[in-house]
Amino acid sequence: MTATAQANPNLALIKYWGNRDEGLRLPANGSISMTLGELHTVTRVTFQVDREGDRVVLQGAPAAAPASERVSRHLDLIRDSAGLRAGADVVSTSDFPIGAGLASSASAFAALTVAAAAAARLSLRPMELSRLARRGSGSACRSIFGGFVEWFAGTDDATSFAAPLAPEGHWPLVDLVAVIRAEEKSLGSTEGHRLASTSPLQPQRVAGAAARLTACRQAILLRDFDALASIVEEDSDLMHAVMETSSPPLHYRLAATDALISAVRRWRKAGLAVCTSVDAGPNVHCLCPIDAADTVEARLAAQPGVGRVIRASVGAAARLLSPDDPLTRLI
Ligand code: DP6
Repeated sequence: MTATAQANPNLALIKYWGNRDEGLRLPANGSISMTLGELHTVTRVTFQVDREGDRVVLQGAPAAAPASERVSRHLDLIRDSAGLRAGADVVSTSDFPIGAGLASSASAFAALTVAAAAAARLSLRPMELSRLARRGSGSACRSIFGGFVEWFAGTDDATSFAAPLAPEGHWPLVDLVAVIRAEEKSLGSTEGHRLASTSPLQPQRVAGAAARLTACRQAILLRDFDALASIVEEDSDLMHAVMETSSPPLHYRLAATDALISAVRRWRKAGLAVCTSVDAGPNVHCLCPIDAADTVEARLAAQPGVGRVIRASVGAAARLLSPDDPLTRLI
């Protein structure tokens, strides 16, 4: 009973920060993302009947206890649905920096969900896969789909899932990720979500989410880059304002992050179509239409403090891989 799946990370254009139910990962607000192509997580799950416990290998090495336990808890949901009692071998590799605000848990739990459900012979619809993926990592529910994706916050397990908003070919945007630091971040987003409610700004951020979601949805559907740029930057700034006013405060942005955001804003003022968004890490996602991508990439690479620039176009949905798919060579 084995299956291999591939999923891409995603960039939240309207962000998920804070849960109304932590156990079920029911978010405080809905979110919208763009799935990122060319960045992959490939995961193989093999259930071994009569085996106790799971063996988890991440990036070529046995996973540390917290990561391995998180994978096992997720596999338990799938084992329970399938009535399966079997340990699993899980092998997973991502071809981009892990844990540095590049949403690696999104692609990791989307790929794990798709592979484990298939290996357990569960036949699930994309919406059901999205609900399951959400339990492993909230943002993973969006990586089940390609293109532009909306996660409806919902009020319970059955109503909190993602769905496609516009397909991959709808709008050729490019995400240029200026990597300022690629090591693991000090505090993961799961712990960060727990602190959101300690910020006096979180209720206001959540209250305004519906209006920002509407503006973002409209901008995507109309392919209006100026409108998208202003709502994406506003939403990212609001999330970091919440993070920075939590107790204890969370500072994911470094001085080089802020300097780069200012530079990009100057470029946009001078007529270059580009905007920024920052997740739970120091790296800066620079979103632009494809015809501006070469210029933006060259300018980013020349900025002080930028180590490398990762380029991703709009990506496809998570999928099962056949044994001869070239991507299986990653694991
Ligand atoms: C800042 O989905 O990584 O990237 O559910 O605890 O795994 P867990 O958190 P995660 O949080 C993502 C936070 C974010 C914004 C977003 O992707 O919407």
